[in-house]
Amino acid sequence: MSPTPLSARALETLLGEWRGGSSAYVGLSERIRLLLLDGRLASHTRLPAERELGERLGVSRTTVTAAYRALRGAGYLQSVRGSGSVVALPGALAPAAEPITGILDFSQASMPALPGLTDAAVAAAGDLSRHLGGSGFDPVGIPELREALAERYRVRGLPTSADEIMVTLGAQHAIALLARVLISRGDRVLIEMPTYPHAYEALRAAGGRLVPVSVAAADEAGLASGTAPGWDEPALLQALQRSNPVLGYLMPDFQNPTGQSMPIDQRERVIAAAAASGTVLLVDETIAEFDIDRAGEYPPFAAHAEGAREAGAVVSIGSVGKSVWGGIRIGWIRADPALIRRLVGARSSNDLGTPLLEQLLVTRLLPEMPQILAHRAQQLRAGRDHLERRLAERFPSWSVPHPDGGITAWVNLGQPVSSQLALAARNHGLLVTAGPRFGIDGAFERFLRLPFSPNPEQMDRAVDALGLAWESLARHPLPETGFLADVV
Ligand SMILES: Cc1ncc(COP(=O)(O)O)c(C=O)c1O
Repeated sequence: MSPTPLSARALETLLGEWRGGSSAYVGLSERIRLLLLDGRLASHTRLPAERELGERLGVSRTTVTAAYRALRGAGYLQSVRGSGSVVALPGALAPAAEPITGILDFSQASMPALPGLTDAAVAAAGDLSRHLGGSGFDPVGIPELREALAERYRVRGLPTSADEIMVTLGAQHAIALLARVLISRGDRVLIEMPTYPHAYEALRAAGGRLVPVSVAAADEAGLASGTAPGWDEPALLQALQRSNPVLGYLMPDFQNPTGQSMPIDQRERVIAAAAASGTVLLVDETIAEFDIDRAGEYPPFAAHAEGAREAGAVVSIGSVGKSVWGGIRIGWIRADPALIRRLVGARSSNDLGTPLLEQLLVTRLLPEMPQILAHRAQQLRAGRDHLERRLAERFPSWSVPHPDGGITAWVNLGQPVSSQLALAARNHGLLVTAGPRFGIDGAFERFLRLPFSPNPEQMDRAVDALGLAWESLARHPLPETGFLADVV
C-alpha cells in the first residue's frame, strides 16, 4: 500500500494545542501518537519532512527529529526509503481483529445487549423458512420489516409508507451510502461541531467540503462564560443561505456528543432554510429515542417538514444498534421513494444487501420498542445519575452537564488537557476518546466524552482510572508515560 502524504499545514491543524509540559519533542511525539491511536491520523500516513514541519510549527528541526525518533523507537513510525516517515500502529495496537479484553472501553457510546435477545433470535430463525425459496440477496429490506418501520414512524406522529423505507447495515452504512449518492467531490456539506466522528469521515470520504456550525453543551463553565447552549442558529441559517451545502448532517435529539436537543420552533426554521437553499438535511436519529426525562413531546424531525418542497429536504436515518445491540447490524433510511430507488441502485457496488435473519429478528422486536425504550431509559437514568455523582465527588473542578437523554456526557475539564488525559488513562487500563476526535480542527481539548451506559461497577473503575490519570497529569503536565505496546 502506498502511503498517503499529509502536509505540514494539515498536521498542524490536527495537532491543535500540543505544546506545554516538559519538553517539546515529547509533547509532539505524544500528540502524534494519540492522533494515531484514536483514529484521527490514519495508519500509513506519510508525515511531513522534518524541516518542513519544524518551520510550520516554529520549532527547531532537531525537535521534530527527536519526536520522530521517539515514535520510531516505540514502533509507531517507519522510515521507508523513498517514502519518508510513515506512521503505523504497532501490531498489538492495530484495530483489533479480536475484541479487546482486560481493558475498559469507554471510547464508544454503546449499550449492553438487550436481555432476552438470544430467545428472540432463536424465534426469528423459525421465520427464515418463508424466505429460503428466494436468492437471499436483499438490497432494500424485507416487506414486513419496511412496513414495521413505517408503522413505528406513524405511531410517533410521522405518516410514512413502506416504500419510503430502505433497510441498511446499521446507521453508519446509511450515512456512507447517502454521502456517496448525494455528494460530488468539492460539494459543501454542513456538519455540527462537535459531531459524531464516523459521520464526518464518511462525508469527507465522499468528497464533501465540511462547513461546521457549533453546538454548545449546557455545562456550568460554558453557561458562566455566557455561551448559550444548543445550536448557533444565526450561524446555521447563514451557512445554509450563503454556502448552499448539498447536505447538512444533523442530530437534533440528544446530539452526540453534547446531549443537546434542538427546540421545536428552531427545527421549523432550519427546515425552511434548508428547503430554500436546496440542502438535504440528513437527520441522524440513531439516539433520538433515548429520552430519560426530557420535557415536552418530540415527534421525528421530519414531521416538521410539512410542504411538498420541505418534505424532500429531510432524509432520516435510524438504527437498532443501541436500542437492541450493536451486534445486530440493522439500520434504515426514510426518504422519498425516488431517492430510495437511487440508493438501492447505488448499493451493489459496495454490498449486496442486509442479512435476512437479522431483519427477521428486528421485525419481531419492533412492536416491543416502547417497552425496550422504557427499559433503556431506566438503565440510562441510573447510569447518568451514578456517573454524575462519582465525577462530582472525584473531580469537583470539572463541569459535568445533566443530559436529559442520550448515552453520553460531554464533560468540560476546565483545562485544555483532554488528549493528555486520554493518553494517561490508557496507562491505567481505560480507553476514552479525547474531545478533539469530535471536531475537525483540533478543537475541544477542554472536553471529554464519557458514556453513562456501562454498569456502575465499570463506571467506578473508569472514574478510578481517570483519577489516577488526572493525578499523573498534575505531576507531569505532559506525561512521559513511555509507550504502551503492552496495554491491550
Ligand atoms: C449518532 C450516531 N450515528 C450513527 C451511529 C452508527 O450506528 P450503527 O451502529 O447503526 O451503524 C452511531 C453509533 O455510535 C451514532 O452514535
